[in-house]
Amino acid sequence: MLKDSFGRVHDYLRISLTDRCNYQCLYCLPEPEFKSGCHSSSHDSMSADEIESIAAVFVQQGVKKIRITGGEPLVRKDAGDIIDRLGKFDIKLAITTNGSRINAFIDAFQRSKLRSVNVSLDSLNPATFKQLTNKDDFKKVYSNIELLLSLNYHVKINMVVMNGYNDHEIGDFVAWTRNFPVHIRFIEFMSFPGNHWRPEKLFTYKEILNAIEARYPLVNKLEDHPNDTTKKYQVKGHQGTFAVISTMSEPFCSGCNRLRLTSDGKMRNCLFAKSEMDLLTPFRKGKDIVPLIQDCLAGKHFKLGGNADSNWGLAETVSDKRSMMGIGG
Ligand code: 5AD
Repeated sequence: MLKDSFGRVHDYLRISLTDRCNYQCLYCLPEPEFKSGCHSSSHDSMSADEIESIAAVFVQQGVKKIRITGGEPLVRKDAGDIIDRLGKFDIKLAITTNGSRINAFIDAFQRSKLRSVNVSLDSLNPATFKQLTNKDDFKKVYSNIELLLSLNYHVKINMVVMNGYNDHEIGDFVAWTRNFPVHIRFIEFMSFPGNHWRPEKLFTYKEILNAIEARYPLVNKLEDHPNDTTKKYQVKGHQGTFAVISTMSEPFCSGCNRLRLTSDGKMRNCLFAKSEMDLLTPFRKGKDIVPLIQDCLAGKHFKLGGNADSNWGLAETVSDKRSMMGIGG
């Protein structure tokens, strides 16, 4: 069992398949001076075999859930093969994707145990979608979400709320939950190296709830589980739900059970960690990586990777200059 020095059991691993992405989202795109991860060299990034073998070590150490992330995981041509391989472990398997390539991988999804898909979608308006992602792909992503719903996947929509960009659409996302079992997650805009975070671009948990309650007075609080990053709600009578991920205004570190593995094989003990542990190089040399995993976890801070909340404006102090694209959320 993997426990940190605060007694928190860590049984959830997020594996980034690549730091590449076919979109250039405003909030995610790093400036060139910030490294994004595996530097696009295939030698530096984990092969499908390596992903499977390293994941097996984590599973043997008690990991019960694996989420596949990116960059955009489905730009990797062997993503279907990797889904097959990870699906063979006795774990829950999930994926976070921008939704653009789901149709190309739906057979791989269907034959695996993957039943839960998080799709990043920050606007329901095609023009705003293009402004935010630099791609005119709204229809494609939306129809892929419809495809998932028609096949009864558990679909969560990640909507990063940015003040002045898409905050006026919060109510429309909630309206979507009326007749469809979609689970919207409003994510506070987080500060990462090179992503031009500014306090005035933040739209907080409280502001999000106020915006929703102005349109929907009958909102029920749902029960949250101890490891949840979300605070869940449902409008009375709606099929779907909505939730808020309040990383900036109300961090939720006390129940953290997450470990991260970047596409170049570095373990991170927190999204905001200032350092990382290379597992891939020793793994390639045939070394036992279990002590390294334990060491990395032992160094985990209680909260926010050891960054004080007041540092939020100073993104260069967090994440060891690795951008969100290189970590995978
Ligand atoms: N703030 C909040 N959420 C972000 N994501 C990417 N960058 C940021 C940011 N700066 C979200 C993506 C994706 C998830 C993994 O993280 O939208 O859905």
